Amino acid sequence: MQTTQHNIAPATPTFDVTKGFSVQPSSYSKRLLELRFPKETVNAFLAATAQWPVQALEYKSFLRFQCGKVLDDLCHGTLRPAIITTLTQRETGGLLVIPEGLDNVTQADEMVKFSTAVAHLLGRSNFDAMSGKYYARFVVENIDNSDSYLRQPYRVMELHNDGTYVEERTDYVLMMKIDEQNMEGGNSLLLHLDDWQDLQTFYTHPLARQPMCWSAPPSKNTSKEVFHPVFDCDATGLPTLRYIDQFVQPENYEQGLWLYELGESLENSPQKISVPVQTGSFLLINNMVWLHGRDRFTAHPGLRRELMRQRGYFSIPRTVHYNGQ
Ligand SMILES: [Fe+2]
Repeated sequence: MQTTQHNIAPATPTFDVTKGFSVQPSSYSKRLLELRFPKETVNAFLAATAQWPVQALEYKSFLRFQCGKVLDDLCHGTLRPAIITTLTQRETGGLLVIPEGLDNVTQADEMVKFSTAVAHLLGRSNFDAMSGKYYARFVVENIDNSDSYLRQPYRVMELHNDGTYVEERTDYVLMMKIDEQNMEGGNSLLLHLDDWQDLQTFYTHPLARQPMCWSAPPSKNTSKEVFHPVFDCDATGLPTLRYIDQFVQPENYEQGLWLYELGESLENSPQKISVPVQTGSFLLINNMVWLHGRDRFTAHPGLRRELMRQRGYFSIPRTVHYNGQ
């Protein structure tokens, strides 16, 4: 497997105290921006939302948006436009979000609240059938008995998009690291569609727009099959992708071989980037233009990793134009 290794020192954070956050290209890709919140902003947000435990956000969904507003107000109304612009602009479409001081599993609830606030400046997180909530926390340990590669530690989870086997639109994916013990390896793997060397070859193939069947194993709690093509296009006519190797069900020889070639091309892309995500930080990506996966990690009897995910749709204000719409 090839990944692009960037041995560039992380950029020095520059805080604009009048803004409450900083944003700049990450050291991994110019398309992936680093959004960093200083402790002052994080602590002020947690103090202002202390009366709402995570359970309140689960029961009253409007509180998720109110948490977003609290955070945006602390940033003088400049945060929401920055997040929307980054996620909806095809050229970028991805954020590595670092809330300083949120770095221990004992702060797991605070992590859920903070990431919820950020996501709900952009859209609304869908119901997650695996957890029965709007988010899902799950643990990866040394032994796994699950029926997909989600929790299996010693192998690569291949590049894919989320939401391929559900009918809801999945515009964004948020992936947060809540805990990590005895972990070596396991970086997030990302590939922007426009960096994929074989995009035009596959996008122009006759099978690219042919509806295919997608279905998931029992743990996903979605028994229905859905049908859609691998490729679609955005409002400006540029390609978008909805692909995952484990859940596509090719109906014949031609589809099977084409999907195999597509998967091989993605996995071997030299433009794939490898991004370490620290405890308390999270990736927030446009699911239509970024593929994600996870690198393998090394066996250890005390290995523990806890992750949190949210997936949802953009609810963009009329004043913001998304892909020309
Ligand atoms: Fe995923």
